[in-house]
Amino acid sequence: MSFPTTRMRRLRRTEALRGMVREHRLAREDLVLPLFVVEGDGVREPIASMPGVHRYSVDQVVLEAKRVADLGVPAVILFGIPGAKDARGSGADASDGIVQRASRAIADSVPALCIVTDVCLCEYTDHGHCGMLKGEEVDNDASVERLARTALSHAQAGASIVAPSDMMDGRVAAIRRELDANGFEQVAILSYAAKYASAFYGPFRDAAESTPEFGDRRGYQMDPPNRREALREMRLDLEEGADMLMVKPALCYLDILADARREFDVPLAAYHVSGEYSMIKAAGERGWLDADRAMHEALVSIKRAGADLILTYAAADIAEQL
Ligand code: PBG
Repeated sequence: MSFPTTRMRRLRRTEALRGMVREHRLAREDLVLPLFVVEGDGVREPIASMPGVHRYSVDQVVLEAKRVADLGVPAVILFGIPGAKDARGSGADASDGIVQRASRAIADSVPALCIVTDVCLCEYTDHGHCGMLKGEEVDNDASVERLARTALSHAQAGASIVAPSDMMDGRVAAIRRELDANGFEQVAILSYAAKYASAFYGPFRDAAESTPEFGDRRGYQMDPPNRREALREMRLDLEEGADMLMVKPALCYLDILADARREFDVPLAAYHVSGEYSMIKAAGERGWLDADRAMHEALVSIKRAGADLILTYAAADIAEQL
């Protein structure tokens, strides 16, 4: 039956009607807030390239974690910016490293909050690559060993979920093995399975001081034009023992997310990355669009495409608005 019997506008007439037939909604439970942790005391330093986002010292990150938990956000993901960097990224798996201390402090003060940690070496290596180097190349297998140790140190510090973002082959299996061998069989792995070599990480690298000293990450992160390859990556990570899969970035890769939703039954996460966040914020500051509405629209599109969880710098703002 078509027009004039069918009129699509009938169910759009009022907010009540629109609400009744709305297919997707953002909920606080969907959100994971990324937090940057630095050395020092009393530090709450704004990040110029990410309006509204700060770097916190451990004492301050606890206060922020408490605030977002009170807003109903169930989880945070921690990124560390260490005081010193070296070739092997020693700070990544140090038991008194920046993320490990932050994680312990949050677990102590805000026990209800789920702590996720980003497992990668790029913030800890002096060359800025996500693994250990052999010449000018990232040495996969040596890096995997360091990443597994890093994940273990995060679990020991109170993380419930470890999220490897390095894109080395075989790291999920190695992390699972290391966790299980040390009594952390209950710690879950959220794999950044389909992570693309994206220009949209620009503001993050500024925030985390993790821009590679030479070259780029195209030798390990995925090539943006590839779609089928993402399913292979995700399948492999599931076989290796990932509990959840992530697609990153989100908005340019909604097709990948929709593919993954059709293909897999595990929970799916999408990372609405720094560049995606900052573009909206910057345009809002110039008065070119309504940033709150644009942010909401972007995030709900990620849910519509199939994500269960969304990692976003807007998590606290959105939770406040909901
Ligand atoms: C790597 C990592 C990156 C992001 C999350 N984990 C940066 C990269 O691969 O260069 C990017 C997140 C963002 O842009 O918001 N540890």
